Amino acid sequence: MKYLHPLIILALGLNQVTGQGFEVQSTNWNSSFELSPAQLKLGNLTAAAGATLNTIINFDRTQLANGGPHQDDFYNIQDLPKDQYPTAPGQVIKLQKFTDPSNFSIPAKTAMSRLIYSTTNINGTLIPASAYILWPFHAKNFKARSANATSSSAPVVLWTHGTSGFYADAAPSTHRGLFYDDLVPFTLAEAGYAVIAPDYAGLGVGTSWDGSVVPHQYLVSAAAAGDALNALRAAQASFPKQLSKNYVVMGHSQGGSAAWRLSEILGEKNNKFSDIARYHLGTIALAPPTNIFAFDGGIQYFLSWIGKDLKSVFPSFNLSDWLTPLGVRKTELMNEVEGGQIATTSILTAEDAQPDWMETWSVRAFQRFEPGNRPVKGPLLLIQGLADPYVRYNTTTTAMEETCKAYPNDIELLYIAGGTHFSSINAARQTWLQWIEDRFKGLPLIQSGCVKSELESFMPEEYYQTIPNSFPLWAGQSQWAYELPTAA
Ligand SMILES: *[C@@H]1O[C@H](CO)[C@@H](O)[C@H](O)[C@H]1NC(C)=O
Ligand SMILES: *[C@@H]1O[C@H](CO)[C@@H](O)[C@H](O)[C@H]1NC(C)=O
Ligand SMILES: *[C@@H]1O[C@H](CO)[C@@H](O)[C@H](O)[C@H]1NC(C)=O
Ligand SMILES: *[C@@H]1O[C@H](CO)[C@@H](O)[C@H](O)[C@H]1NC(C)=O
Ligand SMILES: *[C@@H]1O[C@H](CO)[C@@H](O)[C@H](O)[C@H]1NC(C)=O
Ligand SMILES: *[C@@H]1O[C@H](CO)[C@@H](O)[C@H](O)[C@H]1NC(C)=O
Ligand SMILES: *[C@@H]1O[C@H](CO)[C@@H](O)[C@H](O)[C@H]1NC(C)=O
Repeated sequence: MKYLHPLIILALGLNQVTGQGFEVQSTNWNSSFELSPAQLKLGNLTAAAGATLNTIINFDRTQLANGGPHQDDFYNIQDLPKDQYPTAPGQVIKLQKFTDPSNFSIPAKTAMSRLIYSTTNINGTLIPASAYILWPFHAKNFKARSANATSSSAPVVLWTHGTSGFYADAAPSTHRGLFYDDLVPFTLAEAGYAVIAPDYAGLGVGTSWDGSVVPHQYLVSAAAAGDALNALRAAQASFPKQLSKNYVVMGHSQGGSAAWRLSEILGEKNNKFSDIARYHLGTIALAPPTNIFAFDGGIQYFLSWIGKDLKSVFPSFNLSDWLTPLGVRKTELMNEVEGGQIATTSILTAEDAQPDWMETWSVRAFQRFEPGNRPVKGPLLLIQGLADPYVRYNTTTTAMEETCKAYPNDIELLYIAGGTHFSSINAARQTWLQWIEDRFKGLPLIQSGCVKSELESFMPEEYYQTIPNSFPLWAGQSQWAYELPTAA
């Protein structure tokens, strides 16, 4: 018998039970990965540590729509004819106008497109990158509502995501929930914005048109900023009628640094993005790291994530400068299995960092990539939780104050009382939505110049939920439909 949704059964008053099995959801729904004995040896992992890593990897892979970039042909550009190789950054290589949403868990009445486009790495080499566009059902209109209104173009928010991983599989455009789900992209699309979201080079498309490997230059903010601006160019060229020319930039964490750095690039006199710089209405950077090597919650993770592809930036860099031989091997293991941040944190320990990593030349060289202390194209809204354990509020304060002292501009630093790394996004939602709306309406800032402000909770702080206790779970097959009571 054809499957009927339980709510339809209720609504129709059918009392005949079909006998269709409703299966228990399992933790390895769509992946059965297992580390090989050689991989266990490479990471010097016990059987128990290996089992933990298998669980994490199987969970991560289950989140991949269509099996992720290694199975989804969209990300493959190996057959691109030579005469179609891009010649400049910001060109469209492949456009998937309609992305079938059935393997994604985006909200009902949102739609997706995906594209592959050209961008450059930090040294100017032309490489491919992927991006998604999340479409609203009805575009936000800044004029009064008229009967049967169909707005001509949707206002654009260029969204730069935080750390989702370090390899092809980690692209938000391949994640069922776009990795940030309702924290940002769903919220924006449901508020009527078109969300243009770069994956960052190396995430999504792992191999270039010429067969070369595309590294992910993690936390090289100018590279990510270029990926974002080139995604904007390519998306607008693909949908000139549907996307507004004006845009607001918004980013969080890794993407917060990218967004801040993007504003610095647009603030340079002779920057390479003058075609789109004048349509920039402002930038929001949430929890942007500006001094990553001061991180005190497990620096070995960042040494591994930054270090694994740093040779593509500094050819004389050797990962052994930062990590012990075992730390290097664990990073090689992560390279083999495309381990994400949780996978890495499950196997790296403080002992995997070289004791004197901080004294190496490459640390100082890398610090020049961090945002802050440069002129920006404002306005810039920094949002920072006072209880963020990863990006400390005093570090962001220092970066903001130094920038404001040397290069005064419209920069607001908004503190979130009790806000942690992600919960600050929830807490400040009204503020950032309003700020974006005000920029599109062309309204003046509430306060111009360099200002600090604080958002306090409405009810006593201790009443509030601090972290989410659940996770987005794909229940798109009929045997799990009992998990979707609001899906009729
Ligand atoms: C993953 O899901 C597909 C259906 O979407 C199914 O055909 C396949 O068997 C699943 N793989 C695993 C390992 O569960
Ligand atoms: C590998 O792990 C074992 C403990 O399981 C430890 O005794 C040994 O020293 C480790 N090897 C290296 C190279 O760190
Ligand atoms: C959904 O994903 C599975 C593999 O996980 C694939 O076989 C199927 O074609 C995908 N469906 C669509 C509509 O892309
Ligand atoms: C790449 O660019 C960085 C930053 O501009 C520079 O320090 C580095 O030397 C360059 N590397 C190469 C291989 O040109
Ligand atoms: C709006 O749509 C309705 C239903 O299609 C139609 O009857 C009506 O004439 C339309 N109004 C205008 C102003 O176009
Ligand atoms: C990196 O350093 C290690 C340890 O000193 C050395 O064995 C290795 O050959 C070096 N690699 C390169 C490419 O220089
Ligand atoms: C910020 O605060 C932490 C913890 O109190 C402290 O260790 C660190 O030195 C401070 N950093 C700055 C830049 O003030």
